[in-house]
Parts: sequence; C-alpha cells; structure tokens
Amino acid sequence: MTNIEERAASLSEAQIAVHWREEEYISPGARFVGQANASDPAVYDRFGEANFPECFREYADLLDWDQYWHTTLDTSNPPFWKWFVGGKLNASYNCIDRHLATKSNKAAFIWAPEPEEDKTEVITYQELYRRVNEMAALLRDFCGLKPGDRVTLHMPMVPELPICMLACARLGVVHSEVFAGFSGTACGGRIADSGSRALITIDSYYRDGKLLDHKVKADEAVAVAHDHGVDIEKVLVWRRRPGEYLSAVPMQEGRDFFVDEVMKDYRRQEVAPVPMPAEAPLFLMYTSGTTGRPKGAQHSTGGYLSYVAGTSKYFLDIHPEDTYWCFADIGWITGHSYIVYGPLALGTTSVLYEGAPAYPDPGRPWRIAERLGVDIFHTAPTTIRMLRKLGPDEPAKHDYHFKLMCTVGEPIEPEVWRWYHEVVGKGEAVIVDTWWMTETGGFMGSTLPAVKPMKPGSCGPATLGVYPVIYDEDGKTVEPGSGRAGNICIRNPWPGIMQTVWGQPERFVQTYYARYCHDTSSKDWRDWPFLCGDGAVQAADGYYRILGRIDDVINVAGHRLGTKELESAVLTVPEVAEAAAVPVVDEVRGRVVEMYVALHPGRQASKEVEDKVKLAIETEIGKVARPKNVWIVPDMPKTRSGKIMRRVIASISNFTDVGDITTLANPDVVESIRRQVYQQKTERGEAPRELTPKELEEIRSFGHTD
Ligand code: WTA
Repeated sequence: MTNIEERAASLSEAQIAVHWREEEYISPGARFVGQANASDPAVYDRFGEANFPECFREYADLLDWDQYWHTTLDTSNPPFWKWFVGGKLNASYNCIDRHLATKSNKAAFIWAPEPEEDKTEVITYQELYRRVNEMAALLRDFCGLKPGDRVTLHMPMVPELPICMLACARLGVVHSEVFAGFSGTACGGRIADSGSRALITIDSYYRDGKLLDHKVKADEAVAVAHDHGVDIEKVLVWRRRPGEYLSAVPMQEGRDFFVDEVMKDYRRQEVAPVPMPAEAPLFLMYTSGTTGRPKGAQHSTGGYLSYVAGTSKYFLDIHPEDTYWCFADIGWITGHSYIVYGPLALGTTSVLYEGAPAYPDPGRPWRIAERLGVDIFHTAPTTIRMLRKLGPDEPAKHDYHFKLMCTVGEPIEPEVWRWYHEVVGKGEAVIVDTWWMTETGGFMGSTLPAVKPMKPGSCGPATLGVYPVIYDEDGKTVEPGSGRAGNICIRNPWPGIMQTVWGQPERFVQTYYARYCHDTSSKDWRDWPFLCGDGAVQAADGYYRILGRIDDVINVAGHRLGTKELESAVLTVPEVAEAAAVPVVDEVRGRVVEMYVALHPGRQASKEVEDKVKLAIETEIGKVARPKNVWIVPDMPKTRSGKIMRRVIASISNFTDVGDITTLANPDVVESIRRQVYQQKTERGEAPRELTPKELEEIRSFGHTD
C-alpha cells in the first residue's frame, strides 16, 4: 500500500464517530439582549401554528402599503400560494422614499472599492433617491421598459448594481441579476430563459488585484441569447471609472450605450414609484437543480419584501442606527435579501465591498470593519475558513466590535464556528447560523439571537412561523427530535417563498411538491409540504443540523452548482464521451468539484484534453466552477442498467471506502481508477483528510444510483 492508502485505511468509523457529538450551548451577552429587537420568548407563541397565517401581518406591517390587503393567504390554487392579496406597494418606495423624512442624510450604502487607495463612496438615502430616480427614468424612457418586462443585470459588487435593481423595482420591471463571476454563455442562457430585452453590465471591475474585462462577456451573452431566439435591444454599459473605457472589446453602435453618457438626458428626473400588486414578481434569481436547464426562482413584491424585512429585523437584529456589512455577493440570493432589500427596508446602512476577502492581505476585512464602524457582520463559512487560514491573528489587531455575526450558505464546522466566535467576534458577538436557500427568499432555520442560545454546528430551530417536518424516503415522518436523518420539508407556506419557476410552473410543482404531497386535489396547505432539498436531523432540543443537498447539487464555497450543468459543459469537448462530476471535501471551500471523463474510442488521454475540459467549464459556467482535478479514466463504473455510479468515484476522490460494488456491470474498473487517482493525488501532494460521519454519508450516497 502507498502512504496515502495506509492513512486512508486507518480512519475507522469508530474514530470518526468521536467527532460527532452535540456541542454545548452558548448564551448571548446581557448587553446584546438588552438592545435586541426581539427578546421576549412570547414571539414564538405569536408565530405559533394557531396564529398562522395571520402572524405574518407582523412582518407585512413593517412596510408602507399603497393599498392594504384583504386576504393574508389565498390557497385556492395550490401550490401557487398568494400572500397579502389585494395589497399594493412599491419596493423602491419602501427601501428609499419613506426614509427621506427622517434619514435623508444617513448613509444607505457605503461602498469600499477593492483598490485600497480608491475613495470609499458614501451614498445617502437622499443621494440614492436621486440616482435611482434618474436610472428609472432612463430605463423607462430610453429603453421603453414597462411593468412586468424583464431586464438582465450582469453586474459585480458596485453601487450601480443595487441602484439598477431599485430602479427596476420602482417601475415594476422584473430584474434578473446574474452573478458577475458567471460566464457570458451562462448569462446568455439566463437572458433567453427570462426573455429580457435589455442587458445592464459594466466595462470592468476589480477582483483579487486584477482589473477584469467584463464587457467582453456581454458580447458573448447577447450572441448566446440570440442563438436561443432572444434578441437584446440595448446593452447599457456602466464604466468602472467614469469617462474611461477599460474593456478591450468595442462598443457596438446602436446597441451598446454608456450609461453615464445617456444619463445626461435624465438628470434630476423623478419617477413616481408604481404601486404594484403584492403578487407582482419583483425579481428572478437563477439557481441550479437536478436538470441542466437553469431555473429562475420568481420572487414576489409584497410577500418577499415583508419576509426579508421581518427576518432582517428579528434574526439579524438590524436597527436603523447599525452599520451592517454582509460580505456576500448581490449576485446571489443572500445579497438580494440581506444586502439590499431587507436592510434598506429597515432604513439601515448597508456596506458593499467590491473585491476578494483577503485582498491585499487577510487584514482587509477588519480594516474595513474598524474604519466604517461595522457592528453587524454577515459572511459564509468558506470566507471564515479562508481568513482563519491566512490570518488567524488579524482580527485582534483591529479595533472593531460586532454585536452580531451571521454565517450562511453551508454547514459550519464547530471548530471554525469557535474561531469565528472567539477571534472574529472577540467573544462579544452573538452568532446566527442561518439556513435557507434561493427558493425560500429568506431564513428558514436560525436561533432568535436574544432568545435561544447558540449551539455550534446547528442552525437552531425553525424561524418564526415556519413549521418543518423531516420525512424518510418512504414518506413517513421521522420522529421530531429523534436525531434521525431524513429529507427536511416545510409544512406551510410563508411570505418569502418563491412563486414559481419562471416559465416552468410544472417544474415548480414537480421539484418541490411532487415527492411528499399528500393529496394533489387538496386546497389545504397542510397537504403540500415544500421539499427544501437538504438532508437534516433534529435534536431533542428542536435544533436542526443540516447535512447538505439531497439532489445532484455540489455546494462549492457557497455556490450551488448542478452536476448536470457541469457535465453538459464538459460534453461540449469533442473527445469526451462521458462525464461525471463529484464533490470533494475541501478545507477552505467546503466542497470542490472533481470531474471524471471517459473519452471516445481511439482518443488518447492528454494534458491537452484535461485543459479543454477545464476551459469548457469556465466558458459554459464560469471560473467559480473550475474543477480541482480532471481524471481521464478508461471507463466509468456503471450499474448493469448503464448508470454511472457517482458514489463510487466520489468515494475514491475523497479517499474513502468505495462500499459495495458487487452489483456493478464492470467492478474491475474501480480498482484501476483508484490506483490512478491515488497515485496522481500523491504526486500532487494531496493527502487524505479525516471526514466527519456527515461528510462520509454525503459522499457514500452521492448520486443515489444503486
Ligand atoms: C446550503 C444560500 C448549512 C443548503 C442562502 C441549502 C446551508 C443551500 C446553510 C442553498 C446553513 C445554506 N447551514 N447549509 N446555514 N445555508 N445552506 O440557494 O444545502 O445558494 O440547500 O442559498 O445551501 O444554497 P443557495
């Protein structure tokens, strides 16, 4: 046996099980509790099932309505629930205009550009009002956009991104922001799916010390959308440095326009916010699922905004006087809900940061926190792990004080949680581990910070007015509090729930409801549990521990990537006959992707093919999805019916036991793949890492083909 094989074999289950234990409770400090928005445990009674759905009036009443609603929840067309029916409101009015009377000169956004020598930009509510109005006038009059039209945004972390979102919202135009790290091709597919007529982009932006050419992706996106039969009429191009054009690709006459130039005609224009029905879509957020076609989660105006305002107030404990920094990208749902809409609905100051967490060094986030007086900090485990690895002692060197910190996006290991608590939070900050997903609009699981103690590794109980259930594979209820694993569902609708999959209502029903619906003819919400897509266990105290996705989704550094998307990208390489993507547990990024490919007969494995595979993924999806390793194998392990056994190769990639392979059509191939992968991993200096039982379970059941 090689060195690696010996070490992998020596990790017995018994040894691993030692790490699987319930952690101690940690209570928030008195100072936090004293100032918290929700510190009376009676709030759980108010949001109890007996008061459902009326309990959510408490969230909706945080907003200003142009017309109050008559029906809190309409269940007449399951599972297409309608919240606050009859109500009308405008999201941009609620995030801006209504704060002007008391907070016109308070900062709405503070933007820290990545180059440290660039000036920090402060945008007051008054300034935001001006800029959003001017942009709304431009979108309406220059682009001819009307309520209900869709606009695709492919913007990085610059203030113009939320300005455009809020300008769309002001007009009732549906925005669809695509994460800037996604490729032009991926953006084009989303333009086509949403039927957008306009694309808003920027010439360039800074990331990790480099100025990235971004406009080049717009040209690709428009071409790809065209191939799908959708034509973009106008491309609006912001300039990272006004007056300078920092992209290498030319502007296309009659199609591409610099926003700063066109804007001259719209200076000082005001646009009345359009009162939108509560049920009007506010935005689309594309996400990965089991099939390759991206799905556009459609979120509502009234229900969504109520839900993110309510959860921001109670779970993030946002007060108007806080300086709140969510270190996520607005290109993901976290940024929409908890950088833009929730915090601004509450009239607080939301910090935006353009760049990479550890640029130019791992002290950067703490310098920003100190200088801006950030008191609420929100980030993902992958960033916490990275900052801990690169600069474990940095936080102590900076004079900032957080009252609350949030972690989101993937499970956080108790050890990493403790560093976050003790070192980043200086033992002073309360932590909320918030569990939710694109589809849910806002938090589904979290401790209520002043009421429930923290428990590292568990997100906590369900959020207010959310009643989960865990089902086993046969649809039987797993006993609550039993610590047994199953598929977590939410029994009831809540205001932040997605309305549908854009243009694919049948897929919405199929993906989220088909599995556990008790009676498809029923109009009672109790018959329609919502499948979240995660495995989970509930401990006796009611706290949930999230085990990860049950579908074919790999969560890389908090980014959801579908195996089918990855595999279809790789199949564009002519030499490749078959492809399978599997997750590998990674110290910093949570999971990374490894790609297994089998070539067409007569094709030779080579470094060149490997590079083509990597490039295909970058082009089709984006750099975020770049695989750690590409293994060109003679054949894939398969079942007798020809399905690729992803769990077998996933086990090999993670140095764990491959389990029972006797039912395979070609069991012999497993040993040769294992030798090949172990040998090359040794050469590359990759060593086995101890997996927790939870991780082992995920890897050993990956792909569910047996
Ligand atoms: C995972 C991100 C454990 C989960 C908001 C979910 C988490 C997926 C947590 C959704 C958490 C999110 N603990 N796992 N606190 N938060 N997840 O749609 O697997 O990008 O299904 O939304 O991230 O990812 P999405």
